[in-house]
Amino acid sequence: MEAPEQLTSGDFTASMEPFLLFEEWFAEAKESEPNDPHAMALATVDADGLPDVRMVLLNQRDARGFVFFTNTGSAKGRELAAVPKAAAVFHWKSLRRQVRVRGAVETVSDAEADAYFASRPRLSQIGAWASQQSRPMGGRFALEAAVAKVTAQYALGAVPRPAHWTGFRIRPVQIEFWHDRPFRLHDRVVFARENADMTDWTKTRLFP
Ligand SMILES: Cc1cc2nc3c(=O)[nH]c(=O)nc-3n(C[C@H](O)[C@H](O)[C@H](O)COP(=O)(O)O)c2cc1C
Repeated sequence: MEAPEQLTSGDFTASMEPFLLFEEWFAEAKESEPNDPHAMALATVDADGLPDVRMVLLNQRDARGFVFFTNTGSAKGRELAAVPKAAAVFHWKSLRRQVRVRGAVETVSDAEADAYFASRPRLSQIGAWASQQSRPMGGRFALEAAVAKVTAQYALGAVPRPAHWTGFRIRPVQIEFWHDRPFRLHDRVVFARENADMTDWTKTRLFP
């Protein structure tokens, strides 16, 4: 993504483009967070409409949206297959900032998933095959045995990407920025658009 326009932290509410503002805040979070500035809580809903939430790592991001990778057979994978919509929130404690994202979810292309999978450490690749994410597991040994089996299976050459492991892209229709201010008079700005193909956003300040 292109270098973000420079904004001082104090006047982020003047920004007109949420992806650029995200880039600026993310760059600052990478400097100040002790770990995982790209960690975000990802909310989905199950078949009963009951929300579910867990942490994932933001991987790629561009004007199309925010991508994370996971196992499609996991709880989140199954929930997204049934209801392809999600919300995510970043909380950068060191900056006292929050960014919320909401939108429909699509899977990334096979080429994108293959490229990222190929860039991962070999042990992570093996883990993606070995872990039946979110399924009941008898004991730790079951995972270790699965890792040993996959390691033997792919002893030579590259480990291919499992079909059950891919990326999901949240295509935001709403991105909200929140910055702590004294006496709980926080700054909140929400950018919204009717659909994720639009490039124009409406910007609204909200009471904190
Ligand atoms: C900081 C952090 C980052 C994580 N990143 C991912 C991730 O990128 N992908 C993933 O599948 N699980 C990730 N996890 C594990 C998930 O939180 C979760 O335990 C797992 O994906 C199963 O969730 P589910 O049963 O709701 O599908 C991460 C956990 C933490 C604490």
